[in-house]
Amino acid sequence: PLETRCPPFPLRLYGGYWLPEWVLPGLEAVHARFDPRPSDVLLASFPKSGTTWLKALAFAVANRADHPPSGDAHPLRRSGPHDCVRFFESSFALAGEGGGDIFAASPSPRLLATHMPYSLLPERITASGSGCRIVYVCRDPKDAFISAWLFTTKNSTAHDRSVQKSASIEEVFDLFCAGRCVAGPQWQHVLEYWSESQRRPEKVLFLRYEEMLREPARSVRRLAEFLGCPFAEEEEAAGAVDAIVELCSIGQLRRVPANKTGATELGINKESFFRKGAAGDWSNHISLEMAARLDAVVEDALRGSGFSFAAAG
Ligand code: A3P
Repeated sequence: PLETRCPPFPLRLYGGYWLPEWVLPGLEAVHARFDPRPSDVLLASFPKSGTTWLKALAFAVANRADHPPSGDAHPLRRSGPHDCVRFFESSFALAGEGGGDIFAASPSPRLLATHMPYSLLPERITASGSGCRIVYVCRDPKDAFISAWLFTTKNSTAHDRSVQKSASIEEVFDLFCAGRCVAGPQWQHVLEYWSESQRRPEKVLFLRYEEMLREPARSVRRLAEFLGCPFAEEEEAAGAVDAIVELCSIGQLRRVPANKTGATELGINKESFFRKGAAGDWSNHISLEMAARLDAVVEDALRGSGFSFAAAG
């Protein structure tokens, strides 16, 4: 069946989500071996929702005392956002059985990223007493779908080439609508984090990609406040917020040599993380009928939840 071919690495239904089988040992290792610290910040997202951007912004905001954003030597001008902030489940998966707690040597405060759903995170992280905080970035499902589809076309890993050969966009779209995609159903992923952000705003900051595009400076200030390092008046006067917006803009990141060539530890072309960076690009790639079908699925699933992809805030 198509779902076993696409994506060609097999997905397994685990705790209500479709997860790549190869990640599951990593998730189990996170539960068994990861020792959270109260100062940890987890950057969470459904794939292709602005993770790379969020990594850059959070890194730049949290480390601005040591690394002034306009400085030539800033780590984000020398390396990629995925080198500055690593995914914890895939890093554990790649490290294998004997890897221990692979982040134990990282200095505090640590920034880590995850595509795991909220309900599959260890309680040691989600418990209020843990002190750990979570920043989530949410994106319109149609754009997340298109971004993922085009990511596979731009990428040249063997598995991505075979996605393109083995299935059409319509077929992969049908699977997405059925929730069968990496970390899907997408709307369920978003809803869990959103619900938690409503219940415990001090624990979970919920950002929307579309709002970040509209008001990047406001998003940077919200991030800084949430991380406990709001911009001082002198920093504001010196233009620190705008400097971070510029440093992390897609145009700037695209120019960084480290983001242009080579591949991540998962074999993904680094340049494929920077495509268009816009809202609403789905309309150039799927029909209105397809869009309406996904909207209806999502509306049905979200009914009564209080959450809407269209809502501002
Ligand atoms: P598009 O494919 O729609 O252009 P992720 O980082 O979660 O993999 O998401 C990738 C999406 O974020 C891509 O969307 C990519 O172009 C966009 N993106 C990457 N860096 C960005 C940035 N600095 N600002 C805005 N969007 C960015």
